[in-house]
Amino acid sequence: MRQRSALFTILAVVAALLAAAGAVQARSPVFDVDKEFYPYYPSLIKWNKSTVPFNAPEVCGSCHEQQFNEWNGSVHSLAFRDPIYQGELNKAVKAVGHSISRQCEGCHSPVGVVTGEIKGPGFQGLSSMAMAGVSCDVCHSISGVTHWQTPSHEPENGSFILTPGVETANGQVLVKRGPFKPSPECGGGFHQCEESDLHLRADLCASCHQVYHYDAHFPIEATYLEWKHGPYAQKSILCQDCHMVDLDTFKRSADQFVIPDRKEYRHYFNGANFLLTYLAAGAAKKAGDEELARNLMRQYEMAIQRLKMAADLEVTPVYRSGRLAELKVRVKNIRAGHNLPTSLTNVRQMWLEITARDEQGTVLMTSGTLNPDGSLPAEARAFTSDGMGSDFHFAIDPWVVTAFSKHETIPPKGWKDVHYGIQVPEGVGRITVEAKLRFRQADQKVAEALLGAVPKDIDLEQIYGIKSVPPLPVVDMVVKQETVKTAP
Ligand code: HEC
Ligand code: HEC
Ligand code: HEC
Ligand code: HEC
Ligand code: HEC
Repeated sequence: MRQRSALFTILAVVAALLAAAGAVQARSPVFDVDKEFYPYYPSLIKWNKSTVPFNAPEVCGSCHEQQFNEWNGSVHSLAFRDPIYQGELNKAVKAVGHSISRQCEGCHSPVGVVTGEIKGPGFQGLSSMAMAGVSCDVCHSISGVTHWQTPSHEPENGSFILTPGVETANGQVLVKRGPFKPSPECGGGFHQCEESDLHLRADLCASCHQVYHYDAHFPIEATYLEWKHGPYAQKSILCQDCHMVDLDTFKRSADQFVIPDRKEYRHYFNGANFLLTYLAAGAAKKAGDEELARNLMRQYEMAIQRLKMAADLEVTPVYRSGRLAELKVRVKNIRAGHNLPTSLTNVRQMWLEITARDEQGTVLMTSGTLNPDGSLPAEARAFTSDGMGSDFHFAIDPWVVTAFSKHETIPPKGWKDVHYGIQVPEGVGRITVEAKLRFRQADQKVAEALLGAVPKDIDLEQIYGIKSVPPLPVVDMVVKQETVKTAP
């Protein structure tokens, strides 16, 4: 009898355990979310809450003029005001509801999220701190990261901790973290300084440069992990060593794996987005701010140069039965520290345009020329990704994309080969081949849809002087011309 009841107890305990496991499973057996640990979920920001305020970049700029001038005009300074972002944010809130905006703003304007100031898309009534996007006091208040506690156990959706300062018996003390051992004068009486190893690691950038689906935890943008699993991480070349330096220094970091000298770091955060800085330069000119317009045009030119330095092309003939049968084009990622392209790979477009002509200039073969309506032809060889939703159908919007149906980006220092079949008429001895690697921020229709969705209080004509979306500019990253014999 005693034995039987013991057995019963064991069975009851096992049953209870199984039921508990079932309950966990109903949530997600893979991505367990602790909403007490992450109070701003679906953003994974944490804030050591106190009365200590954040300060707008102009305040920091009054003592740190050089850093301010480099940052002001960067994509970080535009991260919240970016009209393409505001359009997509507006669409997201309409599709999913207000809570998703926390996820987006956790990276595009983190301070606006923790202070609760940003209530939705649009600019109305916002402080300069909220408008400043990824500003000085975001990065220099970061006191730690929670990369291993996130649902995906990777850096994800803003998994950093903000601590702008501490409350002491004598009042509020601002604490700014940076690369140096603080000197007694550090902070000029305005803030205290703390030496931070985190600011000398890519982990500082990782939390925002790993964008996950707000609920399914699928990595839509994976720049940090692409870098971490590549050759630059192994040689200790960080994000900062290519994006916080001028172009010559970036080239040296990428080619020779030389870590820049501390004096060489700049606050440009320059990437590939020439379109945004170009639009913003127009807005600054219209508003009469010539200095900002110059900064923005410098960012625009640097982004184009960076794109031109990122890749290379090789054209090789392939002969079969003594005749030219194919052209092989090798696209090489020579200087991007992550895949090329990276980040929004399902929105950005990078593709090959190729034309082969005989000696008279007659076109024998062509591929990748844009259609008259500005769209990319279906047969063009592109090096981007296609997103799909949980129904496995094609999707673009980040609240829908939970997987990729294909991913054609090129790993760091790696390459992709494309073969083009070609039939050369008898009697043609040699042909000329022109191959171009081309890049633009988005498909024409996608850009029109996003800019068409900006909230009503953002008047594109008044701010940017644009009535309709002009044809999106394309950058030729590499252009190669080769003469090829039609027989070996
Ligand atoms: C984890 C941080 C993070 C989160 C969360 C995030 N973003 Fe972003 N977003 C980025 C980064 C980083 C880029 C820049 C990528 C690039 O340049 O390719 C970006 C770029 C964009 C762009 C392209 C802007 C342009 O000018 O081309 C849009 C649009 C955008 N985000 C919208 C959103 C929306 C809407 C959400 C919420 C559903 C969101 N983002 C959530 C980090 C984030
Ligand atoms: C995206 C993050 C980020 C933002 C935004 C940012 N910084 Fe920095 N800052 C860094 C990093 C990383 C370093 C360390 C660079 C290095 O390795 O020397 C740094 C270094 C510094 C230093 C030390 C001296 C130097 O230039 O290396 C100062 C001062 C500074 N930042 C001030 C500012 C100010 C002022 C702003 C706003 C105008 C700003 N930062 C915006 C990340 C950031
Ligand atoms: C009253 C002048 C003043 C203001 C305002 C000011 N700083 Fe500083 N800060 C200094 C001085 C002085 C130093 C030490 C010398 C240097 O690095 O330029 C310093 C150093 C720093 C450093 C390097 C710390 C280290 O240990 O590596 C960072 C980062 C920094 N400041 C960020 C900021 C940020 C962010 C703001 C705005 C919230 C700001 N500062 C506002 C005067 C100021
Ligand atoms: C608080 C979040 C956050 C942090 C931290 C952060 N970034 Fe960003 N970064 C963004 C967002 C958001 C964008 C895109 C804004 C947009 O396109 O509207 C961006 C854009 C960029 C771009 C420009 C991309 C382009 O298309 O031209 C570069 C380069 C970049 N970040 C590098 C860095 C580096 C290097 C660090 C670390 C030192 C870093 N970021 C840290 C949020 C962040
Ligand atoms: C070896 C140099 C190098 C390193 C290291 C590097 N990048 Fe880049 N990055 C580039 C180049 C070149 C481009 C332009 C080509 C492209 O878009 O990939 C770029 C582009 C970008 C873009 C813009 C993508 C777009 O389509 O607008 C972002 C964002 C970015 N990098 C972030 C990072 C982050 C975050 C890290 C660290 C985890 C990093 N990069 C490390 C060289 C580097």
